[in-house]
Amino acid sequence: MPVDFDTIVNLSKKRGFVFQSSEIYGGLRSAYDYGPLGVELLRNVKEQWWHSMVRMRDDVVGLDSAVIQAPQVWEASGHLASFTDPLVECTNCNNRYREDKLDNVDQCPSCGKWGMFTEAKHFNLMFKTHMGPIESSDNVVYLRPETAQGIFINFENVRRTARLKLPFGIAQIGKSFRNEITPGQFVFRTREFEQMEMEFFCRPEEAEEWFRYWIEERRNWYIDLGMKPENLQFREHEQDELSHYSAGTFDVDYKFPWGFDELEGIANRTDFDLKAHMEKSGKDLTYFDQEANERFVPYVIEPAAGATRTTFAFLIDAYTEEAVGDETRIVLKLDSRLSPIKVGVLPLSKKPNLIEVSSKLADDLRRAFPVEHDVTQSIGRRYRRQDEIGTPYCVTVDFDTLDDQAVTIRDRDTMAQDRVSIDKVKAYLAERL
Ligand code: GAP
Repeated sequence: MPVDFDTIVNLSKKRGFVFQSSEIYGGLRSAYDYGPLGVELLRNVKEQWWHSMVRMRDDVVGLDSAVIQAPQVWEASGHLASFTDPLVECTNCNNRYREDKLDNVDQCPSCGKWGMFTEAKHFNLMFKTHMGPIESSDNVVYLRPETAQGIFINFENVRRTARLKLPFGIAQIGKSFRNEITPGQFVFRTREFEQMEMEFFCRPEEAEEWFRYWIEERRNWYIDLGMKPENLQFREHEQDELSHYSAGTFDVDYKFPWGFDELEGIANRTDFDLKAHMEKSGKDLTYFDQEANERFVPYVIEPAAGATRTTFAFLIDAYTEEAVGDETRIVLKLDSRLSPIKVGVLPLSKKPNLIEVSSKLADDLRRAFPVEHDVTQSIGRRYRRQDEIGTPYCVTVDFDTLDDQAVTIRDRDTMAQDRVSIDKVKAYLAERL
């Protein structure tokens, strides 16, 4: 059965995946802090993306560009003029909404009154601030609303220094900021979030082929990391849905508790961005193809995913409740590459001679895997905690260990147990993780 929204939010808080930002001050709406387990899960999602998009390929390189860029970047990209959402306000209760997200454009979801909305205003989503000590219109800058523009403005720097030939990609992971009118659904739509974006530059006539290629690559990435295929949907944008830069977009949608919603957009951005920056900056961002003896502006295919949103989707997808005897067992069946903790080391009791062995084993395993050495509570409760946080293996040190120098290793999903000699534990786990 699919997990409901409140269950997953409660688990996230209870186990330390995600906390409300500024909680001790009553909380700041739409901003979240990732706790000890959440930060590991989020890092693992980003690491897996980087691994597949950059490390495993010889045609994609990485970049980490600044959050604050010259304001001309956003003039050229079209964000200053077009990165807007339609804002309406109820004249009865003064609540504000995104018009295109309302179930009924005539009825206010807060006060229930009909026909009280103002005309929609175009509300720009970029966060504005000032660079330096003086607040004036000359030093307005913006927090980036997407990581992509940092890549376009570095196109020539990266191409030249990495000696790249088309087709090639530049990937980046980082924070983006959008002053969303209606943030919500926990970490799904926030005003500060992380993106994982790659701009793949190619010859214009090859763009369609690369577009199809990247749709498949991205599908495989989610499924390879254990996301259930029936919870994923690829949806092509209608002509009137397309962003100002796009000649075609597929959304990768995930089945969230409220229905299918966007995880990632894969777009054919054509030569829109490079041309726009050429025009605005006066710099030559064309590409010279030596073999064809031809100069042109490359097209761009962009798989653009949300790291925080994808982390949330993996958490939901992994959540499982199973009947074990008369009890219900909660297990996060995360792929072990995503699990925050890979190995729980649990001494059966707090007796010093057991703790001595388990501490030594935990220290040794820690060199290879993220380990939690847990000595609190009953062994049953400790197993339940490790299941709930998605730890694939638990190693139990018991009284027999003192005689036979062996431990019990329990598999999270099957709950099967193997007795393994202490000197073979690392190899046993390395084979499986
Ligand atoms: N460069 C293209 C671009 O930014 P987008 O569809 O607006 O495209 C890409 O954003 C991804 O970033 C989305 O699919 C989503 O996963 C994530 N994202 C966008 N806005 C977000 C928000 N307010 N909160 C969390 N994630 C967001």
